[in-house]
Amino acid sequence: MKLLIINGPNLNLLGLREPDIYGKQDYKTLCTMIEKACEGIDFEIYQSNHEGDIVDKIQSAYKNADGIVINPAAYTHTSVAILDALKAVGIPTVEVHISDINTREKFRKFSYVSLYAEKQIAGHGLDGYVEAIEYLRNKL
Ligand code: DQA
Repeated sequence: MKLLIINGPNLNLLGLREPDIYGKQDYKTLCTMIEKACEGIDFEIYQSNHEGDIVDKIQSAYKNADGIVINPAAYTHTSVAILDALKAVGIPTVEVHISDINTREKFRKFSYVSLYAEKQIAGHGLDGYVEAIEYLRNKL
C-alpha cells in the first residue's frame, strides 16, 4: 500500500505563517509526524505552491498510489483543475485542513476538493494528517 500526501501553497511556511491560526510547528515537524504515522507503509510527501504541479502529481499517482491525503490550501476554494485531477485518477482521498475552514471567512467554507474527497478533516491542527492516514490505512 502506498499513500501520497500532498500539501498546497504556503504550507511550507508553517510555523512562520499566521501561527495563531496554523500553529507554531513548522513544515519539517509536520513531515516527521507524517513519517511516523506512515510507519510500515510506503508513502511520499509532496508540497508545491503551483496548481499545475499539484495536478501533475495527482496524475502521476494513477496506478502508483492507493490513497491520497491532500491539503490543497488556498486551492481548496478555487481549483476545479485539482478536483478534476482527483476525479480522473479515482484514488480514495481524504482532505485535510489544519484550521476549521467552516468557521472562518465565508470564502473558505466552500471546497471544490470536498466534491470528490470521501472525508474532510478540518480544525484538528497537524493531527488531522495523522487521522487521515489512519483512516486510509484502515480502509485500504
Ligand atoms: C488551509 C485553509 C485554507 O483556507 C488556507 O488557504 C490554507 C490552509 C488549512 O490547512 O487550514 O492555506 O487549507
